[in-house]
Amino acid sequence: MDLRAIVGQIDAQSTQALGLGLFEDEEMPLSGVAANLDQNLRGAISELFIQGDFRAKKNETLALYTYGLIPAKRIVLVGLGKREAFSADTLRQAAASLAKKARELGVSELHVSIPEGKVVMSPATAAEAIAEGASLGLYRFTEFKTELNDQKPDPDRLVLVTPESDEFSEIEAGLRTGQIIAQSTALARTLVNGPSNVVTPSHMAQAAQEMAAASGLHCRILDKTTMEALGMRLLLSVNRGGDEPAQMVILEHNPGDPKLPTVVLVGKGITFDTGGISLKPSQNLEKMKGDMGGAAAVFGALRAAALLDVPLHVVGLTPLTENMPDARATKPGDVIRSLKGLTVEIINTDAEGRLILADTLTYAEEFIPDAILDVATLTGGRVIALGDHAAAVMGDDDLIEALRRAGERTGERVWPLPLFEAYGEQLKSEVADLMNVGGRAASTITAGFFLSKFVPDDIPWAHIDIAGLGLTDKAEAYTPKGGTGFGVRLFIELLRNWRA
Ligand code: BES
Ligand code: MN
Ligand code: ZN
Repeated sequence: MDLRAIVGQIDAQSTQALGLGLFEDEEMPLSGVAANLDQNLRGAISELFIQGDFRAKKNETLALYTYGLIPAKRIVLVGLGKREAFSADTLRQAAASLAKKARELGVSELHVSIPEGKVVMSPATAAEAIAEGASLGLYRFTEFKTELNDQKPDPDRLVLVTPESDEFSEIEAGLRTGQIIAQSTALARTLVNGPSNVVTPSHMAQAAQEMAAASGLHCRILDKTTMEALGMRLLLSVNRGGDEPAQMVILEHNPGDPKLPTVVLVGKGITFDTGGISLKPSQNLEKMKGDMGGAAAVFGALRAAALLDVPLHVVGLTPLTENMPDARATKPGDVIRSLKGLTVEIINTDAEGRLILADTLTYAEEFIPDAILDVATLTGGRVIALGDHAAAVMGDDDLIEALRRAGERTGERVWPLPLFEAYGEQLKSEVADLMNVGGRAASTITAGFFLSKFVPDDIPWAHIDIAGLGLTDKAEAYTPKGGTGFGVRLFIELLRNWRA
């Protein structure tokens, strides 16, 4: 969908549809743009309110026809919910609802105005939210659908109309930013939606290379031989059971500029998690194609960082492998020496994410980072603790605080869990330095605690557990069922607001 800005009056636009957002507690008589349109339509909009046919509940939509009273063919109303709850997320959701309604109606071009007055948001922020919401809302994964007959085409164009010519370039920039972020999120969604027989570690590596070439990122891939030479034995221990060779993707934005702070993003890339020899039950096992959601989020974040040219040296590290059972697979009780030198007793081969992340966190030291963040579909305990509405975060207080702010702004919210030293007791091994699991109690925390042992000394680090959030079966306004791209928008918001 093409997104553009124009200077003009919304009610003068000759178009297939005008989008109009209204609040649930809208006062009568209407004011501003809504009042103008209502007058032109001889009170048709206020009548809908008075009769209670349209209440402007969040994401409620209704199309009305203009019979030549204004140049636009129809007005599509969208509910914004309560005025006092209005935020950028309201706008993202409303834009998504409008875009989907336009698609359903077969409308190819939709004009909307930037929210007026009384709204606590710059025109650029509003434009960004509208672009992001509309584009994310229209996302569909159709790669494996042979019959597309019943699928309506997306609208060709969304036009943001402002009467203020001095706001034009700000709005245009906001639209571009929103679109870059949405497309980067879509990249992550598509990788998560892709089945594991297609989205293998090598497929991920190739996708990263193509994306890097198109967005101006540096990209290198470490192959198995290199990993062996480096001593990434924990990562390789997870790879043993599968036929697909492990891959480590290294993406860099602004490499070799020593003046810039370096932020390393690490993403778990298990392209399918069977559990290994500690085999998972088959119920919902298909969801484990999404166990590379962390890696996908890192790809998306790096893409956006490059295209938005954030003034940081950003590094993306994604260890990629399947976790399969096999005669050669790692077995419970096996002891592996990590890249860091610590030995790990593998009690449960299904606790594989922390193993591939541990060596990668250690390897991150190569980049002399100012901060390291990792994102991973790591524990079922995350789902039990926080459900659908927040990822779990652990680690450095300042990073957690920055992530919380970024989460509030993007709607990809995070909530902290403690890493008290006492949790370390649960990971003590009889035969090695650590066990890879700490029992059922506080499993999200003990997983985070395990990771903390492999983070290079004195480097601020935060761990984000997104288990269950990368792949959803509940559609939301701008998040259809399937891959969500969770983490892309959180990370890019964090990077854009980085304090040196
Ligand atoms: N990939 C899973 C975690 C997961 C669970 C992701 C549900 C998405 C939805 C992870 O590798 C795993 O198996 N974790 C185990 C660890 C346990 C064996 C200590 C878990 O949390 O049950
Ligand atoms: Mn597992
Ligand atoms: Zn896993």
